[in-house]
Amino acid sequence: MTENTILLVDDEAGIRKVLGISLADSGYTVHTAENGAQALRMFKKITPAIVLTDIKMPDMDGIELLRRIKEENPDTEVIMFTGHGDMDLAIKSLKYEATDFVTKPINDDVLEIALKRARERISMRQKLKEYTQNLEKLVEEKAAKLLEAERMAAVGQTITELSHTIKNMADGLKGSIFVLGKGIELDNKKYLLEGWKMAEGNLEKIRNLSLDLLNYGKYADVHFSVCDPNTPAKEVVKLMQSKAKDKGVALKMELHTDLQPFCFDQEAIHRCLLNIVSNALDACSEAKAGGKGKKVVVKTLPAKDWGVEYQVIDNGSGMDEDVTQKIFQSIFSTKGTHGTGIGLMMSKKIVDQHEGIIKVKSKKGKGSTFIVRLPMRIEAGA
Ligand SMILES: Nc1ncnc2c1ncn2[C@@H]1O[C@H](COP(=O)(O)OP(=O)(O)OP(=O)(O)O)[C@@H](O)[C@H]1O
Ligand SMILES: [Mg+2]
Repeated sequence: MTENTILLVDDEAGIRKVLGISLADSGYTVHTAENGAQALRMFKKITPAIVLTDIKMPDMDGIELLRRIKEENPDTEVIMFTGHGDMDLAIKSLKYEATDFVTKPINDDVLEIALKRARERISMRQKLKEYTQNLEKLVEEKAAKLLEAERMAAVGQTITELSHTIKNMADGLKGSIFVLGKGIELDNKKYLLEGWKMAEGNLEKIRNLSLDLLNYGKYADVHFSVCDPNTPAKEVVKLMQSKAKDKGVALKMELHTDLQPFCFDQEAIHRCLLNIVSNALDACSEAKAGGKGKKVVVKTLPAKDWGVEYQVIDNGSGMDEDVTQKIFQSIFSTKGTHGTGIGLMMSKKIVDQHEGIIKVKSKKGKGSTFIVRLPMRIEAGA
């Protein structure tokens, strides 16, 4: 909208000329039209902020013009020129939200007052618009701050959990040093060996924790390339055989032979499955009967609308409802100093990056099935 532009509409050439000059003198850019149709055409072209129009004109009268202009742009200020005895028309124009009336013959001072009112309304509307925009911006900023606060709270919680884990490990180390000390003091080889073994175990845990943490930060990006979905499953089962044997658990795989290769991050999915299988083996050796009759099966399956479905099935300790709620969310572990609780958090992060799903079905004392589905992605890239 052009703030300082006025469209002056009157069928009398004399009025157009005289008023046009005086308005231009007052600093307005003035366009004139001699009838409603011409006025409408010009209005659409120059979008003036203010229209001055005679109320009585042949063909399209002032009221009709007012109505059509308000239809085009309701913010336009329209001032009507009325003759004596046009009161009915003037009142009618109120219905269509004319800004003001000025009676003919036009008195410059009266017109100036009407124009001033129109300008005030324009600037008020402008201010209101700015105010609303500022308000919107403010709301946006506030929302962003809230989000950041929420994120910081989550970080805080993670740090708390992490500190707990580290403290447990430190306690473990302290314990080993105590046993070692006793061994030295009493010159007892059995204590020395025991302490040494404990220290080794604890060091290994600290090493694993730092590696997990490093990985968690490091693999912020995933790299998609065309891969065979059976490959990471095969690799993981092979890699985990010796751990399975140590724990007396049978680790098997059942791979579907007809799966199409598609784009995913093979290394990331390898890590994801490794965590899940490692947990399944732990669950089996933890179960009441130890590793006896315990088995873990890694399956790949086709799934409608997905690239692949991985299943890791164990008949180990299982979990109750309360535990299944927590396992993907944060650093949560029931393994005391044996686990960091980062494993599944990382697995979930990887699956999320693939826009896949990870879920678990579990029954306390019976076992668990972890399911990972990856979408059939066709573009490679990061
Ligand atoms: N197959 C499973 N059967 C029973 N419980 C499981 C199974 N998988 C995971 N859990 C539970 O979920 C918890 C979290 O697993 P997660 O892999 O995140 O951490 P973790 O194994 O304890 O430690 P780590 O960081 O060394 O992997 C485990 O402590 C365990 O209680
Ligand atoms: Mg784990």
